[in-house]
Amino acid sequence: MNHPKHVGDFSLLDPAVQQCPFEFYRHLRQESPVYWAEDIRCFIVSTYALAKTVFEDTATFSSRNVNRRIVNADAVERVQALRASGYPPVPFLATNDPPTHSAYRQLSAKIFTSKRIFDMRKKVEPIVSELFEPFVTKGGGDFMRDFAIPLPLMTVADLLGIPRDPETVAKYRLWSDATIGPLNGVISAEQEIGYAEDILEYQAFFIDIINDRIKRPREDLITEMINAEVPGEGRRMDMAELLSAIQQWLVAGGETTTYTLGSGMLLLAQQPELLEALRESDDRVKNFAEEVLRTQSPSQGLLRVVLKDTVLDGVAIPAGSLVSVRIGAANRDERIFADGEALDVCRANAKAHLSFGVGIHFCMGAPLARMELFSAFRRFADSGLRIEVDEESGGFGYVPSLFFLALNRLHLKLARV
Ligand code: HEM
Repeated sequence: MNHPKHVGDFSLLDPAVQQCPFEFYRHLRQESPVYWAEDIRCFIVSTYALAKTVFEDTATFSSRNVNRRIVNADAVERVQALRASGYPPVPFLATNDPPTHSAYRQLSAKIFTSKRIFDMRKKVEPIVSELFEPFVTKGGGDFMRDFAIPLPLMTVADLLGIPRDPETVAKYRLWSDATIGPLNGVISAEQEIGYAEDILEYQAFFIDIINDRIKRPREDLITEMINAEVPGEGRRMDMAELLSAIQQWLVAGGETTTYTLGSGMLLLAQQPELLEALRESDDRVKNFAEEVLRTQSPSQGLLRVVLKDTVLDGVAIPAGSLVSVRIGAANRDERIFADGEALDVCRANAKAHLSFGVGIHFCMGAPLARMELFSAFRRFADSGLRIEVDEESGGFGYVPSLFFLALNRLHLKLARV
């Protein structure tokens, strides 16, 4: 007999829940906004107000090294040995707390200026064309492989001033996956070891680039990072810091934008009336991008480590606990977004979503990401093409992950209407 579902009937370890967690989120928000998930040994926070509380209280909920808490038990020794043979990871922006976070953030803001972001407009449009034309000419293909993965990586490569030929871009993807893969929380020991090896390869590649820029400075972000003074410390970043900083720019600039592009195109393929709506105005396209971010946030759950015993919404959380703030759940909270489950290209407060984070860690690349999303969605909408999921070639599928909503394939068929 069917019984009404309850929050305890769902598990984030279930691939079906990972790919479509929204029913689980409804139960979480209603029944248990701060929920102890025994299966992943983590507190889950799901309402908009509580998500903001956690993000804003950085003295209690820490980001420092949060990504290194999840290591497959069978891989610990080998991973530690591999890591010891390279430069140690330095907690940079997203994986750091004040006061060092503030110093790195100030340093980054001086380099990643609004002028530099504005100037990227001239680069993003041509990259979109470069990827769009062949994709259309061959009548479609795997949108993730051919468009959603290369666009953000080519953009971030231009920003950093590093090569962006297809072979090197494929390497960036590999290294980016190696950084983010362990965060999925559901990988084998072999994968974990493979990722640690890839990070060593990443380091070797960028040590050469950094040394080259030291000898032959250029007008690029890497040269500026090398020359920038760490605020309040009267020194420049050392090799370990530079490697961690570049790694974070590469990953932050790549993965999330890729997944948002994929989720948006999937919606356009599944709901052709949306494509029609986007043709009406640029504002519609911009709002569509916000609604994709809101309803399909690529980071579904950000992690924090609890530094001191605390109580959140009446629930005691001991020091040392992990908290997963489900942005994906907060973004559909009816108290903020009326009819929150629905994508509405005319929604007035679409931009109030939490997909770029909140407070001191608010995404530094949000304007650049918005530029890429707008430019890509507008190009497909304006083309007048019919877009369909190509089920025969493999349809679409997701990376197994506790924390990301991440398409890894999206086969599309394009046709002139
Ligand atoms: C759709 C695309 C993107 C999404 C959804 C996104 C989301 C986020 C989120 C949620 C955070 C906060 C993490 C936390 O609080 O733990 C963040 C931080 C950050 N993002 Fe993005 N991001 C995107 C694109 C980009 C791009 C294109 C860049 C740069 C090229 C970038 C650079 C950064 C950096 C440097 C941080 C760290 C800021 C800090 O900790 O002070 N992001 N991003």
